[in-house]
Amino acid sequence: MAIRYNADTKTFILETKNSSYLMKVSRYGNLLHLYYGGRVPDEDLDYLIIPADRGFSPNPNEAGNDRTFSLDSLPQEFSTSRSGDYRSSSMEIVWGRGASSWSGKVAGYEIYPGAPKIKGMPGLRALPGEEAETLVIRLEDPVSGFEAELSYGVFEEKDVIARSVMVINRGEEAARLERVMSATLDFMESDYDLIYFSGRHLMERGFRRIPVSDGIHAIGSSRGASSHQYNPFAIVCEKNCTEDYGQCWGVSLVYSGCFLMEAEKDQFGQMRVNAGINPRGFSFQLEPGAAFQAPQTVLTWSGKGLTELSHIYHRIFRENLCRSPYRKNTRPVLLNSWEAAYFDFDGEKILSIAKEAVDMGVDLFVLDDGWFGCRDNDDAALGDWTENRKKLGMGLCELSEKIHAMGLEFGIWVEPEMVSEESELYRRHPDWCLREPGRPPVRGRYQLVLDLSRRDVCDYIIDAMNSVLDKARIEYVKWDMNRSITEAWSALLDRNRQGEVLHRYILGLYYVMDQVILRHPDVLFCGCGGGGGRFDPAMLYYQPQIWCSDNTDAVNRLKIQYGTSFAYPVSSMEAHVSVCPNHQTGRTTPLNTRGIVAMDGIFGYELDPTKMTGEEKEECREQIRFYKKHYRLITEGDYYRLTSPYENRYLTAWQQVSQDRKKSLVSIVITDKEGNDAQRYVKLKGLDPDGFYRIEGWKGKYSGKLLMNVGIPVPGGLSEYEGIQLLLKMA
Ligand code: DGJ
Repeated sequence: MAIRYNADTKTFILETKNSSYLMKVSRYGNLLHLYYGGRVPDEDLDYLIIPADRGFSPNPNEAGNDRTFSLDSLPQEFSTSRSGDYRSSSMEIVWGRGASSWSGKVAGYEIYPGAPKIKGMPGLRALPGEEAETLVIRLEDPVSGFEAELSYGVFEEKDVIARSVMVINRGEEAARLERVMSATLDFMESDYDLIYFSGRHLMERGFRRIPVSDGIHAIGSSRGASSHQYNPFAIVCEKNCTEDYGQCWGVSLVYSGCFLMEAEKDQFGQMRVNAGINPRGFSFQLEPGAAFQAPQTVLTWSGKGLTELSHIYHRIFRENLCRSPYRKNTRPVLLNSWEAAYFDFDGEKILSIAKEAVDMGVDLFVLDDGWFGCRDNDDAALGDWTENRKKLGMGLCELSEKIHAMGLEFGIWVEPEMVSEESELYRRHPDWCLREPGRPPVRGRYQLVLDLSRRDVCDYIIDAMNSVLDKARIEYVKWDMNRSITEAWSALLDRNRQGEVLHRYILGLYYVMDQVILRHPDVLFCGCGGGGGRFDPAMLYYQPQIWCSDNTDAVNRLKIQYGTSFAYPVSSMEAHVSVCPNHQTGRTTPLNTRGIVAMDGIFGYELDPTKMTGEEKEECREQIRFYKKHYRLITEGDYYRLTSPYENRYLTAWQQVSQDRKKSLVSIVITDKEGNDAQRYVKLKGLDPDGFYRIEGWKGKYSGKLLMNVGIPVPGGLSEYEGIQLLLKMA
């Protein structure tokens, strides 16, 4: 049993293969957090909490004269608010005549088989035959009438706990929810580092590691999407934690909207981690009986460092999140028209690019932006989802048929959530976009955001998308989103409900995706938010792969993909070979290196093959052959970051190892070169220490022990930006 309640010690015990998670009901009914870490025996961990009379730390009324019981210092599972705990709270409400305290006490619990049920939002599910159990603990506060149902889905074999909360107004009056964290994790110490992933458009998910220090360190998004700037994922780790050593805890929020993650070191050197919807700009009106479901967080613990933590996330996201049949099916190698033509194309040009793509061995041709309405630039036509026959010289069906006749599959680009002022849709429904009354709307990339908190707007998008997908033969859709949300005001909501718009937008988006994506299960959907601006687990529920970044420069991509790999599997990162000089950085790198780096993801091209030499095309053919041959190893093998591009300026190396450890692929790219420089070595990982391996093209065989402890010499003669792939097979 993964979940138990020990009535003698009043302890809830959650167990996964390698971890234990313990909570205890205090003598006054509060739910205290005791422990999350490596497996411990069934003993009472109450001894960890040393009662102390702390100055200026208030005592709840029910504690009578007991000055040692204070919520200001006790580790809490889901904190009270305005009741004597001054740390960042799990929930903020306003109820009755403006009162705002909340003090939830354990009122009951339930354990049921299977994964937690999350309404209206993505969440982990159990695979057929896979054991998962869910615990729901009810915290009641009869005075405010607010109840919190904490849920814990335990995926025992996968070492994951999926945590969430549902808030219910059981009172007799309407009340306002102003903050709700999906998970609060209290640690009794704070001598940890915080790892998070931040950046900007064209440079997403940079690795950052900082010590947890006094005060609150917060990351988040208030842009309406999970954002380029911060990813909804963080790791807390011991100071000495490395890729292969030490304890670390991961927190991933399955949500595509505004989020907040905090690490707070308190006055007593304890630490609180919070993760949930960003309270900035958020409030939710709850009528009597109404409930609010917060998104899910995916928690994990590793006692063996960051690599193991990543493996846990890779596996659970690959297997238990993604719903598409492409979870298992081989993804096609595609060629995308964006960097090949931008808006400058007609049907003939597209067909000539596609013809060369077939010749290269590509499986799928993707027609990016510019095929619909009067879209010859990025300032018009979003919302008008009918093909531009004049520009294409034919309809989309005919174009698709012609492309299929060449032996290629066909895909298109869409950006369903947006509208251009220069569009039929905007002329008909100017009130369908998010804007404030009396104020001209703020533009982003010339476009406005449709109000997805409205059902009529969602239904328009669903019809528009479904009619394109029902008509033409389309096997792939790139679903883009190219601006941040500004005025989150909806014409259909009352003034006291405007704080709900950003969350309702996301619920609307999930509803639209349910109706379009799940209705076309065989279409491969690729997420995109101006590159990696919405690279989050909730999107992976619908779209098995996401365009990692608009930056296709192979050297910059090393950092972007390195950061992404901490939470997300190779199978989720779409990566393409583009031309040089690179369109984003102006850098020139060898075609071979661009191929190696793009093979650190779902592989494809983003260039015009009609402009390539025969030699270049032959090289691409070879890349595709290699990638297809080793597809399972690349996309499902255990992933090892062998070096960090932030610490090693000379080279970046990574490795995939098959589950049976018989095959491995090592990739190395030289990032900085000095004259007459040192011989460098790379230590491999994940091999069978007692097995022997041959390296393709090298003489002899080497033991796993040797390759992992001593390493391999980086082949000489590689110039700056050159790279190499080494294929290992067990002898
Ligand atoms: C942003 C995407 O990330 C690009 O790949 C491309 O699809 C453009 N949008 C098209 O407008």
